[in-house]
Amino acid sequence: MKGLTTLHDLSTDKIQEIINYALKLKGGFSKKYEGKKMATLFFENSTRTQYSFQVAMLNLGIQVISFNASVSSIQKGETLYDTVRTFEALGLDGVVIRSSVDNYFKELESIKMPIFNGGDGASNHPTQCLLDLMTIYEEFGHFKGLKVCMVGDVSHSRVAHGNIDIMRRLGMDVYISGPEEFNDGSAPHLDFDEACKTCDIVMMLRVQFERHQDKMQLSKEEYHNLYGLTKERVKTMKDKAIIMHPAPVNREIEIASDVVECEKSRIYKQMTNGVYVRMAVISMVLDGDLQCIY
Ligand code: CP
Repeated sequence: MKGLTTLHDLSTDKIQEIINYALKLKGGFSKKYEGKKMATLFFENSTRTQYSFQVAMLNLGIQVISFNASVSSIQKGETLYDTVRTFEALGLDGVVIRSSVDNYFKELESIKMPIFNGGDGASNHPTQCLLDLMTIYEEFGHFKGLKVCMVGDVSHSRVAHGNIDIMRRLGMDVYISGPEEFNDGSAPHLDFDEACKTCDIVMMLRVQFERHQDKMQLSKEEYHNLYGLTKERVKTMKDKAIIMHPAPVNREIEIASDVVECEKSRIYKQMTNGVYVRMAVISMVLDGDLQCIY
C-alpha cells in the first residue's frame, strides 16, 4: 500500500527525514504538485487533522475535493472499500481517511492510490505523532534521554498508542499517568505530580468521552482535581519543560483554561507544525520517497 497508515514499520531514520523535511518547508522551501487532486474522507469528526491536511494540499498546489460522509452513498450502504475504490477510479492522487474502525486500512490493501491515515479507532494517528515529534525536536534538538509522560485517557488514545512505540524507538523515556481505569499498561505508570516535577514533556490527553463504553468513574471535577494540569502544577515543572496536548482540549477537565496558552504550552505550535508535517508526508509519498508496508 502506498501512503502512510502507521509509523510502526518506519525506521527512525525515515522519521527523522520527514521531520527534517517538514522543518525545511517551515523555513520557506516550496514544492508544488500542480494538476494533482486529493480528498479528505472523514467518517469521524475532526477540526485539526482534516483542515490542516487540506491546507497542506493547498500549500502544495494540490486541488482539494470536498467529501461529506453524511450526504455520500455511505448512507445507502456503500462500503469503505467501494468509496475509496470510487475515488481511485475518478483519478485522484490520494485520499486522507479517518475512521473509528481500528486498522480500517487493512481492507484497502489492493488500492493503488496513496492512503494517508488521519486516525483509526484507538490505534494509529501517524501525522499527529509526527507533528508531536517535530515540536519536541524543534524545542530540544534531539530525542534521546528526554522524559515524557502521557497523562489521562491512555486506553482510548490513538495518539498515546502511536507515540509510545515511536518515542521509545527514538530513545525517549516514556511513561503514562492518570486514573487506573485508563491505565492499559502500555508504558510504566508515574504519579501525576511526580510527572509534572520530573518530565521534559508533559503530554496531556483528551478524555475521550465519545469512546467510553461505560461512564467515567470520576466526576469531571474530581478528574480535574486529581489529574488536571493546573497553574499550580505547572509551577512545579522544570524550567525548560513543555506542555503538549493533541487537542481538542476539554477545558477545566484534563487542562485548566489558563494553562492552554501559557508560556510552557506548545499546543498551538503543534497545530502549526501539523501543516508542515502533512506537507512533508504528502510530498514524500508523491515523490516515491515514503512507502508504508504493514
Ligand atoms: N488532534 C486531532 O486529531 O484533532 P482533530 O480531531 O480535530 O483532528
